[in-house]
Amino acid sequence: MKRSWFVSFEGIDGAGKSTHIEGLATWFKSRGHTVTLTREPGGTPLAEKFRLLALHESMDPLTEALVMFAARREHLIHVIEPALARGEVVLCDRFTDATFAYQGGGRGFDWQVLKTLEQMVQHVPATTLRQPNLTIWFDLSPKVAAERLSSARVPDKFESQPVSFFEAVRSGYAKRMLESPDRFAQIAADQTRDKVWTDVLKAVEAAYMS
Ligand code: TYD
Repeated sequence: MKRSWFVSFEGIDGAGKSTHIEGLATWFKSRGHTVTLTREPGGTPLAEKFRLLALHESMDPLTEALVMFAARREHLIHVIEPALARGEVVLCDRFTDATFAYQGGGRGFDWQVLKTLEQMVQHVPATTLRQPNLTIWFDLSPKVAAERLSSARVPDKFESQPVSFFEAVRSGYAKRMLESPDRFAQIAADQTRDKVWTDVLKAVEAAYMS
């Protein structure tokens, strides 16, 4: 059972997705898959430069959305599409749903404009609109996430936003899931790490077999 497969991981800051992404990379590798583990914004030298700008410079909302999509285009063309063409499993820490959740939900940027940009940027030779096969949404209340983050490192531009911003981001994810319910697996991230991992594996197995 080997075929190319694209999984994205989403959630508000502090939802705890990182350890599970690493765990899934190991899980797929132990089953004989070649795994490309990557992230957005970022994933190429140029897209990592866009990441630094996006996370640390304040900018106009349209500029912010364009920077996210510019980074995504570079990443898609130079990393994601080639890996999928080689038949690999691509595990991506955030993808386009983050733009809808953060720039659309959090910043209140126009949802339809984001959809237009999505159509342009994710149109690749292999398919008219590249989307993950599965999106795992680590869903957590922003209050709990903020408590988890308070002991973490120096916050970036997004991590230092108030709880109300993350309520809006969370609503953005919920709206995105309603638009593509078959692609999303919503995981309750307020459970123990082991239980979250069990739920992640269940979602991956169900989606991979379908
Ligand atoms: P994150 O993925 O949380 O990485 P780390 O764990 O290293 O902090 O950081 C990326 C931040 O960028 C996060 O706050 C969400 C934000 N972001 C957007 O606002 N829009 C996007 O399209 C993407 C991909 C990320």
